[in-house]
Amino acid sequence: MNEKAIISNVNKIILTGDRPTGRLHLGHYVGSIQNRLHLQSLLGTKDAQDNTYERAFYMIADVQALTDNADNPEKVRSNVLEVAMDNIASGLDPAKTTFFIQSQIPEIAELTVFFLNLVTLARLRRNPTVKNEMTQKGYGEDVPAGFLAYPVSQAADILFCGANTIPVGEDQIPVIEQANEIVDKFNALYGANSDAVNKEVFERINAVLSSSPRLVGIDGKAKASKSLGNAIYLSDSLKEIEEKVMQMYTDPSHVHVADPGKVEGNAVFAYLDAFDPKKEEVASLKEQYMKGGLGDVVIKKRLISVLENVIAPIRARRQELEKDPMAVMKILEEGTKRVRLVAKEKMDLVKKSIKIDYFKN
Ligand code: TRP
Repeated sequence: MNEKAIISNVNKIILTGDRPTGRLHLGHYVGSIQNRLHLQSLLGTKDAQDNTYERAFYMIADVQALTDNADNPEKVRSNVLEVAMDNIASGLDPAKTTFFIQSQIPEIAELTVFFLNLVTLARLRRNPTVKNEMTQKGYGEDVPAGFLAYPVSQAADILFCGANTIPVGEDQIPVIEQANEIVDKFNALYGANSDAVNKEVFERINAVLSSSPRLVGIDGKAKASKSLGNAIYLSDSLKEIEEKVMQMYTDPSHVHVADPGKVEGNAVFAYLDAFDPKKEEVASLKEQYMKGGLGDVVIKKRLISVLENVIAPIRARRQELEKDPMAVMKILEEGTKRVRLVAKEKMDLVKKSIKIDYFKN
């Protein structure tokens, strides 16, 4: 077997995570949660190359959340259960996907320290995702070092458990690329050619991207986000959904029902494209809208019922979970315990590779 065949012939280990900084919204659902659910449904099956979907992890990235919330630990802590409940209510099943909390796996922090030696400051500054976030947050040169380096810690999040299949939103692609550079560098310095180990310690990882475009905000802005206050949450009530949809951005020049309207840039149609299962009906509504004669209220009413169909079952399951938060914490605790065993095994190999395995036990 040549080297390429060996690399491609690996079982799939799925890992994904959220920063606990707020409840999750429909942008997260389209960008990543749908893919998490799909990948979870593949567990135990094989892909076209005969690789098994072996295991799935879901991580609450509280350490990463602290990189720009060091002054607000309350916020991070209180959102740990929120993001866990959003995911479970959406269908991520703790019996199939192992849930854990990043800060409770010290091996991730340990691995991050070693990975930091494999990247340069210049490379960290070039990461487009981090650059954007730095601009948004107005950090300039006063960026916390931990924030600038979060892609390194994210590489450790993924690699400490051998994950290779990562469902994420498209904004995370540069972070995944940087992780792969770390894999290459680590393996070149400490991998199969070193005398301590006879196979690569880490393998390259793949992002699994959503097939739908990024969801716009209700104001029509490029991105639905908590900080812009333009998102519909997975936990929103019907009333909140109604209010948000009724104020949604459509086409400002579509004043009278008879006027021809624009579909492009129209948030209502963007949401119908993302969530309405009846694609043909949406296509004919678009035609009518462009010709004139279709009012905003009609399409907004339709969208309300489409979104309520998506959110109602999630909201109902969430309300059940909210009745017993300790049970959710227990899920996180038990998952975290199992993950630590995996982490320890990998760290033993890492230490051996870096020749810091001084005491044999
Ligand atoms: N950076 C991700 C986000 O902001 C969260 C995250 C942290 C993550 N560690 C991860 C995602 C590992 C996938 C894999 O959404």
